Parts: sequence; C-alpha cells; structure tokens
Amino acid sequence: MIKKCLFPVAGYGTRFLPATKSMPKEMLPVVNKPLVQYGVEECLEAGLAEVGFVTGRGKRAIADHFDLNYELEREIAGTSKEQYLASIRNVMEKGQFSLTRQTSMKGLGDAILNGRRLMGDEPFGVVLSDDLCLTDKGEDGVLAQMVKLFKQFRCSIVAIQEVPEDQISKFGVIAGDKIKDGLFQVTDMVEKPAPEDAPSNLAIIGRYILTPDIFDIIESTAPGKNGEVQLTDALLTQAKNGCVMAYKFKGRRFDCGSVEGFVDATNYVYENVYSKEF
Ligand code: G1P
Repeated sequence: MIKKCLFPVAGYGTRFLPATKSMPKEMLPVVNKPLVQYGVEECLEAGLAEVGFVTGRGKRAIADHFDLNYELEREIAGTSKEQYLASIRNVMEKGQFSLTRQTSMKGLGDAILNGRRLMGDEPFGVVLSDDLCLTDKGEDGVLAQMVKLFKQFRCSIVAIQEVPEDQISKFGVIAGDKIKDGLFQVTDMVEKPAPEDAPSNLAIIGRYILTPDIFDIIESTAPGKNGEVQLTDALLTQAKNGCVMAYKFKGRRFDCGSVEGFVDATNYVYENVYSKEF
C-alpha cells in the first residue's frame, strides 16, 4: 500500500569535514557499505521499492552508487571479488530510483516539499540516512514496523526514542497521549527545544511515514527554528487537524551524523554483521 520512500540527502555534513568536502556524507562507509545503502535496504525490506532522493550540489556519487559501474563490473566479472557487489546488486534489482535537486537549503520541511513530484498524492516513507537503524536478523526493520502500524492507523507516524536530558536539544521532541505500550498520539511537538522547554524526553529520530496532505501544510508553514522550514512544525499542524502517531521503535539507532555515533556504528557493524558475512 505504501510504495514510495523519500531520502533528503542534500545536507552538507559539516561535522565530518574535511572528509565531506567533496564527498557526500551519505556515502561515508560504515565498514564496507555507505550509510545511504543501509537506509535504502531498510526501506526495500519494508516493501517501499520506489526510492526518491532529494539531492543537491556535490552529491552525484549517490546517484552513481545506485547505477551500474560498467567498467568495474566487467573487470571483476567471474572472479571471487564479485561477492562484494552482491548487496548493491540486490538493492538495484529490487528498487527503482529517481532524484530531484534542492537548490537552496531551507530546512528539512523544504527538502520534503522538493520531493512532492516524486512522491505524488500517496503516503510515503522518509529516511534520514544519518540515523542508522539496525534490528536483529529475522526482526522487522524500523520502517517495516512503521508500515505495519500505518495499515492500522492511516495517519502520519514518527519514530521516537527516549534520550537523556543533555541530548534533547538536538532533536524534535513530542508529547502525546499513550495509546498502548510504545505508541502515542501526538499532542505537541517542538523542534530542538532547550531541555527546560522540552515537552518530554521522547525524541524524533529519522524515520517517518507521511500522508500527502503534509505538502500543503509545509507550504503554509513559516520558517521556525534556525530560520528553516521545519518538518516538526508541519507535523504539529497535522497532529492538531487530524492525527499523528509517535512510535517507540524496536531496534538500535546510531547517530552517524556525529563522529562518536559513527564510530559506535562502525564497531557494532564490524562485530555483529560484517564479521559474520565475510
Ligand atoms: C532532523 C529533524 C529533527 C529530528 C532529527 C533526527 O534534525 O529536524 O526533528 O529529531 O532530524 O535525526 P537534524 O538532525 O537534521 O538537524
């Protein structure tokens, strides 16, 4: 029922300079796989096969990653090295990829609005690939968990996680009425509040399912925190007019937009995933 997923990938990745000066931050590898591929694998596993990227200047490597590299493939055809291409070949077989470009960085809300033509008039997933979400083998990925919930509630859903007080100002934060264990109907939402103004310790992480009315709402959302059009503000309007759910997902999340989170993810993937595959 949900077929599409949007990846806003136009951001600069300043926390990883100089590595990200000419290389997209989404292409930073966690062990042997670029961050964005983990996100795409999670979305394909959830059954969302139409993948749209909102990209920008200096991000061509992302489009190239999801395309054939004819010369390389020809060179290693029939050798043992081909096994290293298995995961990306699998992704390319299952997904259809399209992209649009964001010409100015006016915030996550604006990036999502840029994806309007790719997503059309139907519900869609959103993945912020800085947030690497991993679940144990055999368990549903985070987006797959959210797609199941969508089938039940048919409204926008944000993934949330409890975070310590000193971290709260890095996130969108929700308040909500508990529907059942781990599920809330959103009543308030604030983008990157000071700890004393935060409505709870439930922080939004980079996985969303959005209903398409979000586009009109974003269009009439004034710039908010840091002068940017915030998805969080648009979602609050949607919550007040109708319904938005917040879901405490099952799994691990690594903040790969920060050096510490990236190193933690690398160690975790090396020990628990990579060493079992190769
Ligand atoms: C964005 C959202 C924020 C959310 C976060 C999750 O912020 O604006 O609400 O909590 O992603 O990673 P960013 O980290 O892009 O500044």
